[in-house]
Amino acid sequence: MTNSQASQDAAGGSLAPPPGCPAHGGATPDGATPLYGPRYRRRPMDIYRAMRRQHGPVAPVRLEGDLPAWLILGYREMYEVTSNTKLFERDARRWRHWDRVPQDWPLMPWVAYGPLLLFTEGEEHRKRAAAIVDAIAEVDQFELRSSCERFADSVIDSFAEAGEAELVSAYAYPVPGLTLVKLFGVSEDEADSLQQDMTLSVVSDDDANSAMGRAMAALGRLIKTKKERPGPDLTSYFLARSTDLTDEQLAGDLMAMMTAALPGVANWIGNTVRLMLTDSRFALTLSGGRHSVNEALNEVLWVDSPLQNLIGRYATRDTTLGGHRIRTGDMVILGLAAANTDPQLWPDPTAGFSGNNSYMTFSHGDYGCPVGAPQLAKTMAQAAVEVLLDRLPDVSLAVQPEELEWMDSIWYHGLTALPVTFEPTYVTGRDGD
Ligand code: HEM
Repeated sequence: MTNSQASQDAAGGSLAPPPGCPAHGGATPDGATPLYGPRYRRRPMDIYRAMRRQHGPVAPVRLEGDLPAWLILGYREMYEVTSNTKLFERDARRWRHWDRVPQDWPLMPWVAYGPLLLFTEGEEHRKRAAAIVDAIAEVDQFELRSSCERFADSVIDSFAEAGEAELVSAYAYPVPGLTLVKLFGVSEDEADSLQQDMTLSVVSDDDANSAMGRAMAALGRLIKTKKERPGPDLTSYFLARSTDLTDEQLAGDLMAMMTAALPGVANWIGNTVRLMLTDSRFALTLSGGRHSVNEALNEVLWVDSPLQNLIGRYATRDTTLGGHRIRTGDMVILGLAAANTDPQLWPDPTAGFSGNNSYMTFSHGDYGCPVGAPQLAKTMAQAAVEVLLDRLPDVSLAVQPEELEWMDSIWYHGLTALPVTFEPTYVTGRDGD
């Protein structure tokens, strides 16, 4: 049974799970908590809290297929692991449990070693990451902002007269999606399927592996086109700086950039709009409250991190972490969302997050999200939220806040749907770029 089927069964109440069943969120006999199953997928933050109480800042967990790993829940431990690349490296071939992994494992595309920058270490990583940083530095942020605003306007035009919309599928994904297609110079005929496959590679149980294959093939075609005819786009800037990489490596690095960007920014937009529509601190200034959009974007990175976990790191020798004995080759998952909400970091939960951007959402250290990339993400997210609130100042949630559901993913944290209503409004007639 796939996870989504399991979720449906649980939602419909037709199957009662046996007590302690790991697939339904019970701990395994050795106390490890499954990071899968309906209970985890629906309320991950509750599970992190319970794990922290039971195990401290690092907890034993199980991935799908009953595969063992450690999840970092503490901010200090996150800092320790991401800062110490000698002790915690990230070439996935270091994992000592590969012999237990089935071929069709749904996490395979983003955990198994591949040609992506995400698995490189040392000098190779330094060179490849530097090419990305330099390429990103060439992007004109003002142009990016105005292109995102134009796409946001044209997307709103498509539902403005209806007076209602489901903002995750109709807005939070299409706006950064269209902006990224232009940013990376993807052709119109590849755009839809590429966006869909990148998203499926992280959220699907059944199709993740083949979606990854299709996306890599599309990126191979993009690379061929841009080598022949470079343009004013991020792909061309990146290719110009990465002349010694194979096409497969180039496709892997583009895949890493685009997949971090699309669901990451889409969830950032969706989670921020949710916060602003459900929390009276933000609702008060909904119309034209520029300052509050910025505050809401920042708060979401702390409390509703659009990317919740990242796999990961592998211990290069036996060590201890958060009071647990970690063995060489153990997998350590970066619990970005859990670390951000570590109570040790927030002894006073009412203190607020204003001006504080030391969240772990973009990770930390040599392997963290490349310099310049978080700013690209913020430019898109901020433009999308601001245009939405400018165009639909009376937008409000069409359901009760507790009816909103979180998507089924160990990686990403975003809503499955965000239904809203608003006064039907005019159409600008802008057609994006
Ligand atoms: C909300 C949006 C985003 C989030 C939450 C995010 C988060 C992250 C995180 C947590 C890592 C982790 C690495 C680690 O420590 O292993 C990472 C890596 C990376 N991100 Fe981002 N990212 C976002 C947007 C972007 C964008 C817009 C780009 C580029 C266009 C980008 C490009 C990359 C790349 C290339 C890496 C690999 C870095 C390396 O291996 O050195 N990300 N990102």
